Amino acid sequence: MNSMITLIVPLLLFFFSSLLFGDITGVESSKHHHHHQQHQRNLYGSAKLFVFGNSNVDTGNLPKNQSEAWAVPYGITYPGTPSGRYCDGRVSTDYLAKFLRIKSPIPYKLKDHAGHEQLQYGMNFAYGGTGVFDTVYIKGLDMTYQISVFEKLIGDIYSPSDLSSSVALVSIAGNDYFTYISDNGYNLGIFQFVRRVINQIEVNLKRIHALGVKKVAVPSLQPLGCLPMYTRGSSYQKCNDIINALTIIHNNALEKVVAKLNKETKNSPFIVLDYYKGFLAVLNNKGENPGITNFKSLYEPCCGGKGYCGTLDENGGKNYTLCDDPSSAFFWDEFHPTQEGWKAVYSVLTNNLKALLI
Ligand SMILES: *[C@@H]1O[C@H](CO)[C@@H](O)[C@H](O)[C@H]1NC(C)=O
Ligand SMILES: *[C@@H]1O[C@H](CO)[C@@H](O)[C@H](O)[C@H]1NC(C)=O
Repeated sequence: MNSMITLIVPLLLFFFSSLLFGDITGVESSKHHHHHQQHQRNLYGSAKLFVFGNSNVDTGNLPKNQSEAWAVPYGITYPGTPSGRYCDGRVSTDYLAKFLRIKSPIPYKLKDHAGHEQLQYGMNFAYGGTGVFDTVYIKGLDMTYQISVFEKLIGDIYSPSDLSSSVALVSIAGNDYFTYISDNGYNLGIFQFVRRVINQIEVNLKRIHALGVKKVAVPSLQPLGCLPMYTRGSSYQKCNDIINALTIIHNNALEKVVAKLNKETKNSPFIVLDYYKGFLAVLNNKGENPGITNFKSLYEPCCGGKGYCGTLDENGGKNYTLCDDPSSAFFWDEFHPTQEGWKAVYSVLTNNLKALLI
């Protein structure tokens, strides 16, 4: 592994700098898409939100026996008991819905028990553990599948005109990279794999838009090397630069593909939500920016310790520790921010989110 790393670091840096350099024009041009505004409606309060992706956005679709997010202490802050969210409380879906001034859309799993009121904010098709492709965690519920489930509801629960004021949130790809690394190690093949992931994302984004969704928001990958699963090795002191370099390569390619799709489409419907920047703004804040929450624990998760959050030991006791105040920690478990963490990230992204409204 070590010799592989010494081989890969210079290569990554090379790719990384050429991508960064090559990307400057792409990023700039995506800022010049404001001239179509006047034709579009402000979505505040009337939007439907359709959600695709993984545990950053799942609000309860996974079955109770297949997810630790249905175990105590998940959900202790909100709603008070486990709700299938991989968090102590609200996740990114809830904050995006709040920004749009609607209720968080109901999980697909609950649709048969939902009345008109509950269906009017859209629907959440996401499953924790999923990716663009099958992952080590879950097979058969990937993003392509999730979009097919949505497609079947059009003309049934949702009319095409319902979609005229709709937004999609598409949170993807972290689990694809965890899967690649777990199956193959961290080797040069990963560059080709990024290409495959990005190509499939392009297909999926186009498909969601072609189904009638007006705005499609795609988060960039958060700095994966800063997740507690990767900072654990340094006693939660520092991020893993190699994993972050991979994240940057993915994000640069994502920016490019989104800029290209916007060029090919009227009204620039595709928007990258810059989670990478948002997470780092919060994690690098040393208290000098009063607008950003100053967390006591940055990299060490509130719930975990030597074991894993929500798991039990042989005797049925807790196999994890829990911090006193989840709102003092940015991360909740090995992979996911706390509610306070998501709230801080979304407050950093306010200007970025405004692109969804016009
Ligand atoms: C979870 O429960 C469902 C239905 O109750 C059952 O069909 C399934 O096999 C269970 N899965 C696991 C992993 O226990
Ligand atoms: C509890 O956590 C420890 C430390 O991660 C692990 O080695 C052990 O296998 C866990 N026990 C159970 C029953 O999962």
